Amino acid sequence: EKGGYDYFMLKEIAEQPKAVADTLLGRIDAAGSLTLDEVRISTAELREIDKVVIVACGTAFHAGLIAKYAIEHWTRIPCEVELASEFRYRDPILDPRTLVVAISQSGETMDTLMALRHAREQGSKVLAICNTNGSTIPRESDAVLYTHAGPEVAVASTKAFLTQLVACYLVALYLGQVRGTKWGDEIRAVIRDLSKISQEVERVLKTMEPVRELARSLSAKNTVLFLGRHVGYPVALEGALKLKELAYMHAEGFAAGELKHGPIALIEEDMPVVVVAPSPRGRSVLHDKIVSNIQEIRARGARTIVIAEEGDEAVAPYADHLISIPATPTLLQPLVATVPLQVFACELATARGNEVDQPRNLAKSVTVE
Ligand code: F6R
Repeated sequence: EKGGYDYFMLKEIAEQPKAVADTLLGRIDAAGSLTLDEVRISTAELREIDKVVIVACGTAFHAGLIAKYAIEHWTRIPCEVELASEFRYRDPILDPRTLVVAISQSGETMDTLMALRHAREQGSKVLAICNTNGSTIPRESDAVLYTHAGPEVAVASTKAFLTQLVACYLVALYLGQVRGTKWGDEIRAVIRDLSKISQEVERVLKTMEPVRELARSLSAKNTVLFLGRHVGYPVALEGALKLKELAYMHAEGFAAGELKHGPIALIEEDMPVVVVAPSPRGRSVLHDKIVSNIQEIRARGARTIVIAEEGDEAVAPYADHLISIPATPTLLQPLVATVPLQVFACELATARGNEVDQPRNLAKSVTVE
């Protein structure tokens, strides 16, 4: 059942290109437009929406953080992302023009379920993004967009995360398409790029041996920090979460620009710091900033592990270890940038003798609040 792999997690990491492709299947028509008929919220209603609120936990929450960048950029609808466990306790502002998106692999996470019940009581429409057919969260939602990752067995989420991202992009692009925005051309171009992205994920998977080697060499470390900007920031959070839950190491993700406001004090000689560099094309300001962040931490002794687009000459001189990923549009980069971080955490956990598929203290679905 592990299909020749030692762990379900390895199998599920390897299944990601297919999971991504399956989640796109049938949702892009021949003309390059999105058809999300299964989302039973009328286009009239979608045009009326004035706010999107995403609720989720853990890895699904990180998918939501990335979705916010996409939704606000392509649709100009304000979007908030909230930990489901905090949501209903702070009396959130919700009304029938708020679209609440609940993201959950299992569809059974109690925190997320309680958040969506609260939203529906306030009259908001709830769209679930879920991987499990017929589970509670989609059953109690107004509409559902299923991710087609197939069953995820390992406790640490991998392929479900990538498909949650795909579903979030589809929702963002669909809202843009339905409502019409000035980004029409960009939306069409991104739909084209998205339809080819599973091949890029496949390419990343083929180049992971140096990442595994690096992970093994760091197995005696106590702390690993992760930095990113823009959508690279939630990717950094996800990299840190994977390392905590699998390797039981102290790991933290930071927005790179926030470093100088405190966390830079943590940097010690030879401390591994993973940096997710944005594409040097497109929004080059972001890229310039990350290069100076890398220089800052390196000057303080950090061992820099940089995930950067192929051919990124500007970061190379400051990277003690360079992990190359294929070029993608900025907003889609998390689909390729997360993969090395999954492999890194899995290999480090194995090197430390941990049970990869079943980390201590954790359960696959958290059905208590
Ligand atoms: C981390 C992980 C958890 C889940 C979280 C939400 O690898 O798996 O953080 O993402 O418990 O679970 P779902 O998506 O089932 O609601």
